[in-house]
Amino acid sequence: MMVKEDIQLFDIDRIRDEFPTLSREVYGKPLIYLDNGATSQKPQVVIDSIEHYYTFDNSNIHRGVHHMSQEATTQYENARVTIQKYINSPTPEQVLFTTGTTGGINLIAHSFGELLSAGDEIIISTMEHHSNIVPWQMLCERKGCKLNVIPINDHGELIMSEFEKLLNNKTKLVSVTHISNTLGTINPIKHIIDSAHKVGAKVLIDGAQSIQHMSVDVQALDCDFFLFSGHKVFGPTGVGILYGKTAVLNSMPPYQGGGDMIDRVTFEKTTYNVLPHKFEAGTPNISGGIALGVAINYLANQDLNAIQKHEHELGVYATTELNKIEGMRIIGTSKEKTSVISFVVEGLHPFDIGTLLDKQGVAVRTGHHCTQPLMDFFNIPGTVRASFTFYNTKAEVDIFIKALNRSINMLR
Ligand code: ALA
Repeated sequence: MMVKEDIQLFDIDRIRDEFPTLSREVYGKPLIYLDNGATSQKPQVVIDSIEHYYTFDNSNIHRGVHHMSQEATTQYENARVTIQKYINSPTPEQVLFTTGTTGGINLIAHSFGELLSAGDEIIISTMEHHSNIVPWQMLCERKGCKLNVIPINDHGELIMSEFEKLLNNKTKLVSVTHISNTLGTINPIKHIIDSAHKVGAKVLIDGAQSIQHMSVDVQALDCDFFLFSGHKVFGPTGVGILYGKTAVLNSMPPYQGGGDMIDRVTFEKTTYNVLPHKFEAGTPNISGGIALGVAINYLANQDLNAIQKHEHELGVYATTELNKIEGMRIIGTSKEKTSVISFVVEGLHPFDIGTLLDKQGVAVRTGHHCTQPLMDFFNIPGTVRASFTFYNTKAEVDIFIKALNRSINMLR
């Protein structure tokens, strides 16, 4: 029998051609875009979708009897169905459009938060983004709840035995990130979800850094909430997704009042619309929702296994090359890790490194990455973070490492 050669389904040149920004220059140098954790670049189909909507289709949704309004409504609702299928939500009604992950977490903190009482407990982790810390602190101040924090070890992994100890019958919500935006750690969320459910707690998974790297099946996970942002998954800014279990969403009061979220309004009493509208007051980001559907469809048509293999190889290669640099300290060395690499170089400030990299065309993020408690844990002011995605190449890693060495030599 002939053994078939491993066919190269992952055509990086074709993919890069689909992202117009990747071919631009910065300071006369080819752009090396390694800030995908902050936001991803957009494929031409997503850009075209936004342009097409405002050129031909612009109309409000769910409101007009006229043709254009109905067309826009259909496109928006089709996008919801595309996203529903991608994350395997049982129904489209459970897929709420938000302004982004931050908007979604604030929605839950306000609405689900209304169901909590003094003494109830919420669990987060040391590696959370500020958007998964501050809304809960605000809720705890409003309601007299207690916020507990899962500690991490020096590799940047959750200490699961400590998590188990924090769980008790007062725990109402566990809210953790799927993948750390700073460390790249992939958390054992299935284990977290199952343990939390044993004490009757609900579980929120912040998927802002995961859905662009791996497949997500909300039913298999059995999470109560799963959230992500459009702009990190090759879609536009200002739109995101909040998936929730129907019973949980139905138990929650509306978040914002306004058009579309109502059933009947009188001055005496207002009754509310059904899901998803109950949580979607006001005219939404219509073109953004439609374009997010296009982005998810784009992702659905890629070979996810090949993407994961490629990103893993980039991460391993970049880590190996970084570790050759004197004074290098990688922050986040979990065994389960995605292609996000944070580091500090002894004696140098991350901001200075980032600035010099920028002058050489290399875009990275520097600073605390909206994770100040995590910086406190590692006792550092910030890091340089290179976050790779599937359109990055090994050649770009080489340019990045060369530019980094040059920057370090200039600063030392
Ligand atoms: N949360 C985004 C990041 O990690 C902005 O950079």
